[in-house]
Amino acid sequence: MTDQFAKKSEAWSARFSEPVAELVKRYTASVDFDKRLALHDIEGSLAHADMLQSVGLLSATELDAIRGGMATIRDEIERGVFVWSIDLEDVHLNIEKRLTDLVGDAGKRLHTARSRNDQVATDIRLWLRAAIDDASALLAALQGALVDLAEAHADTIMPGFTHLQVAQPVTFGHHLMAYVEMFSRDAERLADCRRRVNRLPLGAAALAGTSYPIDRERVARTLGFDGVCGNSLDAVSDRDFAIEFCAAASIAMVHVSRFSEELVIWMSPRVGFIDLADRFCTGSSIMPQKKNPDVPELARGKTGRVVGHLTALLVLMKGQPLAYNKDNQEDKEPLFDVADTLTDTLRIFVDLVGGIQAKAARMRQAAAEGFSTATDLADYLVKKGMAFRDAHEAVAHAVRRASDAGKDLSELSLEQLRTFSALVGDDVYAVLTPEGSVAARDHIGGTAPAQVRAAVARARARLSAG
Ligand code: ARG
Repeated sequence: MTDQFAKKSEAWSARFSEPVAELVKRYTASVDFDKRLALHDIEGSLAHADMLQSVGLLSATELDAIRGGMATIRDEIERGVFVWSIDLEDVHLNIEKRLTDLVGDAGKRLHTARSRNDQVATDIRLWLRAAIDDASALLAALQGALVDLAEAHADTIMPGFTHLQVAQPVTFGHHLMAYVEMFSRDAERLADCRRRVNRLPLGAAALAGTSYPIDRERVARTLGFDGVCGNSLDAVSDRDFAIEFCAAASIAMVHVSRFSEELVIWMSPRVGFIDLADRFCTGSSIMPQKKNPDVPELARGKTGRVVGHLTALLVLMKGQPLAYNKDNQEDKEPLFDVADTLTDTLRIFVDLVGGIQAKAARMRQAAAEGFSTATDLADYLVKKGMAFRDAHEAVAHAVRRASDAGKDLSELSLEQLRTFSALVGDDVYAVLTPEGSVAARDHIGGTAPAQVRAAVARARARLSAG
């Protein structure tokens, strides 16, 4: 125990009479994970220094020295030779100390009119903005891959399910386009979230603003922000923008997870609707015949961890009084992991979708099972003048008869069908095929092959408009 509470050599500042305990130092340090913000920290510092010089708080020579020192530091970080020290707690103090070692007094002036509180909030927003741009590009690529596959399968018939029971025939292209709709809303959510991420906290300083004549708009412009955060207390303390990103990412992952679940079911030999390219599957160490859909299964599993991180950030925030509290240091690991998991998953799925092999004959066969055209028969009777409720009942009797005889509706003779309604004529067989069933659903949002092609064209136009 005494080891853990051993003293480090130096106290935090002259205000302290003893150094922080070793375990406390490790407990409070964030450099191991927040060094990931380093390049954004430098970018923010350079914009801040430029502003300080523009309002007369730094000389041109000092600004040059800071720029030179930061270039060296960036280079050291990129080459992997920068020495990170846990004694310096976080990314901000590590870089500032190295800058001062390199350029002396100019480095000591950089922190004028700034606090780590507005600095870290700025860094995270810069980092997250880039992460959102990556994820958005991948969502567009994934939609593109799904659209291509949907077009190739605009006419491929498969069973549509409700309650995982065969319901009505659909086209595989239509089914895939459902996911394009989902991922397109996910992209919209990210774009909307980005607008709120893209605001500058710097200038809020520790919490109340600063007494120096700063120019926040200039810093915002330099960093490509759309504007400044309007309240200093809010700027340093709230992480709603990160929570919002995690919420949008969670919804996107839930969509990936639903798709994954379907891929797993479709690939089961019992179902046999698709095959996935071998590079996304693994074998079994004991059962030589196995080809397992590991990637979709893992994506489904990783969705749990993303949703967990969203919960972590919500709970992190809920009890915090204004303004900054150290709790917020705990925002980074969940946020980083959400972004990493989302972008890795999307990147893999772009390729995975391109490698999906549909087994059209098996799908077609399954679509004809389970009386999937029963609704079409009822609709046929309605079009001949029967009330829908009566038609529903007549077809229920027909299904029961066919089921008892081990036949499909289309295998009942005209005579047999006419025992359920005299309205049945020999044109009835056209509506009892899966092809007739899907072709009849020919309105916007319907499953008809022509509508799938129209949806594909709309999606392509939207994607190319960006
Ligand atoms: N490492 C800290 C964080 O991530 C930086 C801000 C610390 N500010 C402070 N006053 N302790 O939140």
